[in-house]
Amino acid sequence: MSDLSGKKIVLGISGGIAAYKTASLVRLLIKAGAEVQVIMTPASHQFVTSFTLSTLSKKPVYTDFFNSSQATSTWNNHVEMALWADLLLIAPATANTLSKMVSGAADNLLLAIYLSAKCPVYVAPAMDLDMYVHPSTLRNLKVLETYQNIVIPAEKGELASGLVGEGRMAEPENILAFLRQSLAETKPLKGKKILITAGPTYEAIDPVRFIGNHSSGKMGFDTALAAAQQGAAVILVSGPTQQHIEHPLVTTISVFSAQEMYEVCHSHFEDCDVFIGAAAVADYRPKTVATQKIKKSADDFVIELEKNPDILASLGAIKKQQFLIGFALETENEIENAQLKIRKKNLDLIVLNSLNDAGAGFGVPTNKVTFIDREFHIEPLELKSKEAVAMDIVNKIKEHYA
Ligand code: C5P
Repeated sequence: MSDLSGKKIVLGISGGIAAYKTASLVRLLIKAGAEVQVIMTPASHQFVTSFTLSTLSKKPVYTDFFNSSQATSTWNNHVEMALWADLLLIAPATANTLSKMVSGAADNLLLAIYLSAKCPVYVAPAMDLDMYVHPSTLRNLKVLETYQNIVIPAEKGELASGLVGEGRMAEPENILAFLRQSLAETKPLKGKKILITAGPTYEAIDPVRFIGNHSSGKMGFDTALAAAQQGAAVILVSGPTQQHIEHPLVTTISVFSAQEMYEVCHSHFEDCDVFIGAAAVADYRPKTVATQKIKKSADDFVIELEKNPDILASLGAIKKQQFLIGFALETENEIENAQLKIRKKNLDLIVLNSLNDAGAGFGVPTNKVTFIDREFHIEPLELKSKEAVAMDIVNKIKEHYA
């Protein structure tokens, strides 16, 4: 899983010799999982072809405001493109383009996109040594930083002019590394520790049998991934599932029974910021576990059960700074029951699923949930994928820390 996966990047190329390196840059960004829309200034066409870049980015490359060559004239909407972008990267950024960005000129499509952009803007300057150290360039870079633009410093080395010094555009690999680092630092949940339970628990009857349930674990795993993608360090305590997760910020701990889940959660709770109980924890377990496989004999067979600890309620009882989120799966009096649960378990937010809603609950890729908070604000959401619900839950956490 790459940190750029799914990121929408507008790559603006201005007219310097370093533009030839953007072919490698596009390849690297795409390989890292990003979607890349290339915008070229008119002058940049002297250094790299739009054909190369559209082939590598698998998208048309735009330069002009208007596509007058087509039978039906269309225009390239700079506002739409700017809003589409998760980030705007201008590489190479020439002295001329930097100066126009500072002054607010919009005499080409790239500059108009720049002025319309609400997303983070990165600039990778590239020019000859003397231009790079000219007071106007140095001042322009400083001004752009006051606009909250992020400068990817030029590198030292041999320049196209034959001079040696600062001014070379950062190598594509270094631009990628810079973006990755910068995005990790700006993630909203960076520094937060989130403990999540997922999946069913299995309560042993004997060495080969157990009492379980149909939870797939998907909701918990999707939430763990969404939280990690926002920069949180996640400990995912999972009962037996087929789910798999790979993200450098997620540590998975596999457990079998509710008692094991309880112990692991308590050992990690103290220094966590958020707890999300997405597991379908068995409420009861067999009172005794047979050491040998139970033989079939009598027609009736009774298993005596005893109560499992309620993990969420036990954490609610000791919580300090932690933001506690629970799930509730209800079949009747949904809202009232969920509100009772908020008080009983001392929760900050409950995610209510109703089994009465088609497409919600176990074994389906979608969910229809209602959020209810401590003040009993009720927020019903429409039916959506579990990934999208996971993102909504993570947004609630972001709101809490905003
Ligand atoms: O009380 P109920 O089982 O409906 O509550 C569901 C919520 O409580 C879920 O968030 C679930 O993960 C959590 N839970 C728990 N330990 C239990 C039972 C439920 O953490 N033993």
